[in-house]
Amino acid sequence: MNQYASTATLKPLSIIDLAAMKQRCEKISCLTAYDAGFSALIDKVGVDVMLVGDSLGMVIQGHDTTLPVTIRDMVYHTRCVSNARQRAFIIADLPFMTYSTTVIAAKNAAKLMQIGGAQMVKLEGPRIECVRFLVDQGIPVCGHLGLLPQSINQLGGYKVQGKEKAAAEKLLADAHELQQAGAGLLVLECVPAALAKEISLQLTIPVIGIGAGVDCDGQVLVLYDMLNIGTIKRPRFSRNFMTGAANIEEAISAYHQAVKQALFPTAEHSF
Ligand code: KIV
Repeated sequence: MNQYASTATLKPLSIIDLAAMKQRCEKISCLTAYDAGFSALIDKVGVDVMLVGDSLGMVIQGHDTTLPVTIRDMVYHTRCVSNARQRAFIIADLPFMTYSTTVIAAKNAAKLMQIGGAQMVKLEGPRIECVRFLVDQGIPVCGHLGLLPQSINQLGGYKVQGKEKAAAEKLLADAHELQQAGAGLLVLECVPAALAKEISLQLTIPVIGIGAGVDCDGQVLVLYDMLNIGTIKRPRFSRNFMTGAANIEEAISAYHQAVKQALFPTAEHSF
């Protein structure tokens, strides 16, 4: 038994549970996690979803972008997180260039699930064929639209996406296509709150926002941003939950409660 294992038997949440939360208008709380210690704490507080994000390339490894992150890194960190999890649903990112073809994507997604213990994989962009192929193999997929950090060299910076009418229409159409291809969740990053609200209303799958306003079905933040760890400038859409908290557990709990009660994000954290 590892040091995080407990005799309490909590059943891990499934994608069906998350879909049911959307149905009953219960907000879904999500945080990134990269190791067993934080995984145990986040899980204990009751956060619904842990995302092993390739943001680890920036906050753990100290790179300027997420591009250097490898599938090996992702499998390692996903295993660390899943070793300490009891209840939270675990999503792991497919890093840059690990889903360049459907077969490569399936091979890498299998590693995240079989070795890492992920329940779902996330990939960036409207990669419809890839999503369909993975879902056909029984691999649950989370889409990611809006600001795509793996395409930072094409986007030219970390900017709000979907501001112009044509871009907003394309985002909405891409979201529908991802859902039709079988995606079970969608992350929307840095998009105007009104657009994110419309997408969340139109889709039947849960939409998790980051910098996308309060009307998404759930929220995710990068753990290190909301705990104010590190020297990377916190993005405007995040909040330092350590303010007013006695310790890390209280800060994570304050975030979880704020998401559940739709008190975060406010207009100050939205576009
Ligand atoms: O890698 C990550 O942490 C993410 C979130 C920003 C959604 O993809």
